[in-house]
Amino acid sequence: MGKEISQAVIRRMPRYYRYLGELLDEGVERISSNELSEKMKVTASQIRQDLNNFGGFGQQGYGYNVQYLYDEIGKILGLEEQHNIIVIGAGNLGQALANYGKFEKLGFMIIGLFDINPDLMGRSQRGIPIMMLEELEEFVISHKIDIAALTMPKGSADTIANQLVKLGIHAIWNFAHVDLDLMDKNVVVENVHLSDSLMQLSYNMMRNEAD
Ligand code: NAI
Repeated sequence: MGKEISQAVIRRMPRYYRYLGELLDEGVERISSNELSEKMKVTASQIRQDLNNFGGFGQQGYGYNVQYLYDEIGKILGLEEQHNIIVIGAGNLGQALANYGKFEKLGFMIIGLFDINPDLMGRSQRGIPIMMLEELEEFVISHKIDIAALTMPKGSADTIANQLVKLGIHAIWNFAHVDLDLMDKNVVVENVHLSDSLMQLSYNMMRNEAD
């Protein structure tokens, strides 16, 4: 890859991708940065700046070709390939993730859930099997797994995460409320904490009320 793109820019890419996907669904073929800016409520100059990081994509007087931009951002985000996911912890959250079929549209396929609760043995969610933790190793060896989602209690998160890394999984989607302590520093971790987002909302509500 060429020059390093800031994480702030990367963080904005999924939103561009989402909006462009909606435009495609509406049959829109091209859009100017001004129109996109109005739709996304960010300045046109921000859009131009962000997209310039990847060499532009726009043409003077033409705007952006929506399909092309969508595909290019998809490439930047690594979405042209299918990513297989396993979920560790098949409780409320794990099952909710498995039930959400739209990740598949982005190429993220949840192909197995794992748990330690024998009551869940042999069950499935939306056709995705729930297996016991003892079966994890064999499953990971015999399938191409790209990402592991951790949706079990935080107490076992480090142990399981390190076990997954040893099995060759280098991307963790971490929902357990703990900062993982991983032996291999090359592993990429994306922490998702809905409660952080709620606390942010609470703060903003308070600030709003104070105004
Ligand atoms: P839950 O109790 O419904 O499910 C947890 C599941 O993990 C259970 O089925 C349990 O048998 C299983 N489990 C326990 N130890 C395990 C192990 N060592 N290996 C595999 N499975 C194991 O809980 P829920 O509501 O689904 O929450 C799961 C986790 O996600 C908790 O750590 C919770 O704090 C966290 N959470 C995080 C959110 C976020 O935004 N990051 C939002 C909601 C929950």
